[in-house]
Amino acid sequence: MKQPIFIQLHRPNETGVRAELLRGLSRASAHTSPKYLYDALGSRLFEAITELPEYYPTRTEAAIFARHGDAMATHAPRHATLVDLGAGNCAKASRLFGHLAPSRYVAVDISVDFLRSALDNLQRHHPALDMVGVGADFSAGLVLPSEAGNPQTDARVLFYPGSSIGNFAPDEALVFLRSVRATCGLHPDSGLLIGVDLVKATVELEAAYDDALGVTAAFNRNLLLHINRLCGTNFALPDWRHVALFNVAESRIEMHLEATRAVTVRWADGTRRFAQGERIHTENSYKWTLESFSALLRQAGFQNSTHWTDPEQRFAVFWTGSHG
Ligand code: AVI
Repeated sequence: MKQPIFIQLHRPNETGVRAELLRGLSRASAHTSPKYLYDALGSRLFEAITELPEYYPTRTEAAIFARHGDAMATHAPRHATLVDLGAGNCAKASRLFGHLAPSRYVAVDISVDFLRSALDNLQRHHPALDMVGVGADFSAGLVLPSEAGNPQTDARVLFYPGSSIGNFAPDEALVFLRSVRATCGLHPDSGLLIGVDLVKATVELEAAYDDALGVTAAFNRNLLLHINRLCGTNFALPDWRHVALFNVAESRIEMHLEATRAVTVRWADGTRRFAQGERIHTENSYKWTLESFSALLRQAGFQNSTHWTDPEQRFAVFWTGSHG
């Protein structure tokens, strides 16, 4: 049986993380990057979110893959290197193995430690498949190590499910998609398989980000515990409530934490006063239309995109070639 290879490209540096967070919190309109939502507990809360009745994206996307997987394999090349961006437990990509029969599986996530047990387990079920786990923060641009194969000669299927692209602002999404296209390499069959959440009624969107059980509220508020650990701040949970709203003009769900009373947050060498009702903007989740996302892919240099949706057109999966 083959063994997975693990490579950590770079680790986040603690001083830089603290400086970035405190800078964002000190701004007149305080904000933090959504990547800090995912400490160990945040990642587990996100997994719980994906099972909530209100959070339709995960199950809708899974149904699209189940129904159209064979059709997708008529566009995406078989026996290619499958590069899974934000792989986590590797479950979504592994469901594609039957359709795409990849020759190599490259799982990328922020920390290689998140990938170890999933890849070890997957290797037992696919003993002959080359597997590589890469730890990298690809949000600022994607570069793969040589163990991921040769981009000049190998066909690559880049896989980015879950509408994670929605957590980028449109200008950042464009930059990111251009770097994904460059990573597709030179093989004419290479391309991108990507899941995108679609614009829909405000009530349905807001329920998905403010569920009745309060799991998304816990996911958002847990950020404050993570920031306390990273920055030595003294955020107290009772002082903050979860807010999720659909900003129609920007076509995005916004998550905020709102101060329930006037609070002064302290850390070793600074303070930030928040008035009652003042908010920290913690996440955007952009919603696209079939037309606007097709146009974004074209702008990023992808060609000949095709897509599959569920009957209610809540969610879409796009295949797009990197060379046409
Ligand atoms: C990871 N990402 C695509 C999720 C989303 O829907 O934007 C994160 C999330 N935030 C709240 N609920 C889910």
